[in-house]
Amino acid sequence: MSATIIDGKAYATGLRARIAEAVSGLSHRGVVPGLAVVLVGEDPASQIYVRNKARQTMEVGMSSFEHVLPATTSEAELLALVAKLNADPAVDGILVQLPLPKQIDAQKVIEAIDPAKDVDGFHPINAGKLMTGVPGFISCTPLGCLLLIQSIRRDLAGLDAVVIGRSNIVGKPMAQLLVGQSCTVTVAHSRTKDLPEVCRRADILVAAVGRPEMVRGDWVKPGAIVIDVGINRVLNPDAGEGKTKVVGDVAYAEAAAVASAITPVPGGVGPMTIACLLRNTLEAACHRRG
Ligand code: GUN
Repeated sequence: MSATIIDGKAYATGLRARIAEAVSGLSHRGVVPGLAVVLVGEDPASQIYVRNKARQTMEVGMSSFEHVLPATTSEAELLALVAKLNADPAVDGILVQLPLPKQIDAQKVIEAIDPAKDVDGFHPINAGKLMTGVPGFISCTPLGCLLLIQSIRRDLAGLDAVVIGRSNIVGKPMAQLLVGQSCTVTVAHSRTKDLPEVCRRADILVAAVGRPEMVRGDWVKPGAIVIDVGINRVLNPDAGEGKTKVVGDVAYAEAAAVASAITPVPGGVGPMTIACLLRNTLEAACHRRG
């Protein structure tokens, strides 16, 4: 069997084009959606994410407000900035880039964000809305995964889904989204007994563990849809000494030989996250200023 490669990059490009069109429609009414992104410290990966977010925000015609604070920022200072952004009418969405330096309680900061501007969907109010089936902001990476799954198969009712990983950002909301689609969902994690056997039951397998190529081909049920959330940088001896490459949580070639559809890394789930963030920001603007 040769799997369909799920082209997240192309899907995200199309989604951003639709968002840009909607933003252009709003501009006739003088509404320009605004996204504030807050970065504390100098983590290189976070700096790249934040730069990409700002660029793509402007590309769809939204306002981007970037706040870069030193790594020594206190919790009180960050909470004061969040309060200011909550009160700013030009700001529709607020994203505080994680992880935060250790002197700051991330949960406290997340809970300080106005739930109506919580475009990350991390606030307990939005997490609770997802759990209870009430409309609210949905965490961007799981939302992107669901859109990709539904690009392959619209009706997921009755399918067995296995989500590997139980983080608040990906695993738990992903499981809730799949329950919402009437899947039978198993959340697997580091303490799961016989993980390969659990995975082999999955019609939909979502891997979000952060361990390079952990999911092997013989863990995949023939015909399954495989979604790889992992972004792991590893050494690439084939490219020369010290060279690296990015791989997912799934051994791609092995899994692609068994699955019916699979996301590549890079070019699968990754590009969907920012596109969904922009979608949430548009929704926030329409809701707040509609
Ligand atoms: N760090 C890594 N991914 C994310 C994300 O989706 N949102 C935020 N706020 N921080 C992150």
